[in-house]
Amino acid sequence: YVIGVDLGTSAVKILLVDQLGSVVQEVSKSYSLIQEKTGYSEQAPQDWVDQTVAGLSDLVQSFNGNVVDIEGISFSGQMHGLVLLDEHQEPLRHAILWNDTRTTEQCKQIYEAVGEERLLDITKNPALEGFTLPKILWVKQNEPHIYEKAASFVLPKDYVRLKLTGALHMEYSDAAGTLMLDVANKAWSSEVCEQLDIDVDLCPPLVASHAEVGTLTPEMAKATGLSVDTKVFAGGADNACGAIGSGILEEGKSLCSIGTSGVVLSYEENNDKDFGGKVHYFNHGEESAYYTMGVTLSAGYSLTWFKEVFAKEESFDELVADVHTVSPGSDGLLFTPYLVGERTPHADANIRASFIGMDSSHERKHFVRAVLEGITFSLHESIEIFRESGKTIDSIISIGGGAKNEDWLQMQADIFNAEVVKLTSEQGPGMGAAMLAAYGCGWFESLQDCSKAFVKQAKTYQPNPDRVERYQALFDVYKQVYAQTQAMNE
Ligand code: XUL
Repeated sequence: YVIGVDLGTSAVKILLVDQLGSVVQEVSKSYSLIQEKTGYSEQAPQDWVDQTVAGLSDLVQSFNGNVVDIEGISFSGQMHGLVLLDEHQEPLRHAILWNDTRTTEQCKQIYEAVGEERLLDITKNPALEGFTLPKILWVKQNEPHIYEKAASFVLPKDYVRLKLTGALHMEYSDAAGTLMLDVANKAWSSEVCEQLDIDVDLCPPLVASHAEVGTLTPEMAKATGLSVDTKVFAGGADNACGAIGSGILEEGKSLCSIGTSGVVLSYEENNDKDFGGKVHYFNHGEESAYYTMGVTLSAGYSLTWFKEVFAKEESFDELVADVHTVSPGSDGLLFTPYLVGERTPHADANIRASFIGMDSSHERKHFVRAVLEGITFSLHESIEIFRESGKTIDSIISIGGGAKNEDWLQMQADIFNAEVVKLTSEQGPGMGAAMLAAYGCGWFESLQDCSKAFVKQAKTYQPNPDRVERYQALFDVYKQVYAQTQAMNE
């Protein structure tokens, strides 16, 4: 067996996977966001560790076999979050997360210091609020007393792995999202660090996603119930792991993953395509590959927000149960999901969401359908960028919350005008992490071989021509809302 731990934004999801790639046990433990001000989004690193250890312990306790048969463990994690550590490798403050947008000023400074084109050359990405470097600069400028104690920084899942093993590392797929990695050369960029007066020694040693980085400490073996000999592998960014766990391991394959954020990503063999920074361009968890990706900041989060405000007592299943009784287009109701700003295609931290076209006949189910449609339209904007760049996207794998509901899967097919494929497990990132452990343990010659054995399709959804046409007309309206509402938030 192997374990895949996916350290998400709302919860840690842990999968126990057998040698045939079947998920034999699943545990999930949640934690909360700390949002002190508009634009702020933080979490306590200790909560991640406590909940991961509690989850592993639950998993081991209900496991029928022998724990020594659990050979390896690896990690997938929410990207970009800054965990600043002191010399004893203890966090100096709460982690500042990927959906925190307080750093618009720092992004400007990065462009001024490094130059927009040079930054894109080195990091393959533009300066966006969510990335790690602007967060480091923010702490340096706003909390100098904390910054001066910093000895290193890591990303969320690296912190959990550090606490489990005692070994400090970062791997390429997550390092790519810091804006400090020379993505093509897979090395920290001393140029970027120097221009911003950040000591490059803050950056931890880099390893590959499938690299074995140690074993559990005796204390952590005891706390989790796992064997001290369990091999620990570095893991990857959640989107890279989502790609691995969905078999996005060759050119031409694309993924739609809806968690708190939503992403559309596409496999890239090389790092030499030019998207002009319109989509993110990161190292894959497969050693020599890359992926490009568009990000909707509030995807699942839009639905979570709606539920919290209007349907607190209900489950998600209850909330979405009757959306199929509302026709495509929600009888004139349109939602844009910019609750905490947007990344792709607008890269705008200040824009806010909207409902447009309310009618006195609308019921709650219209609002729910409009939310699902708005999230999907936003993801379709990323698909448009890919198609305009010459990519063919006629089939797309869907994972995460968006793959749990049949109506939403069909909606994705109709809005994307592409076949949508559901897998047997919608837990792509956790599965990808488990696959990195399986590959690292030597069960397979390559991640591709592992994918052939582990990734199984469950069902496909075909676009319906009438609904495709209806949605294309609505998408044209959707795209205009951004510019029309921008002035409200300047
Ligand atoms: C990607 C991003 C999000 C997080 C969510 O750039 O910020 O998808 O990885 O976990």
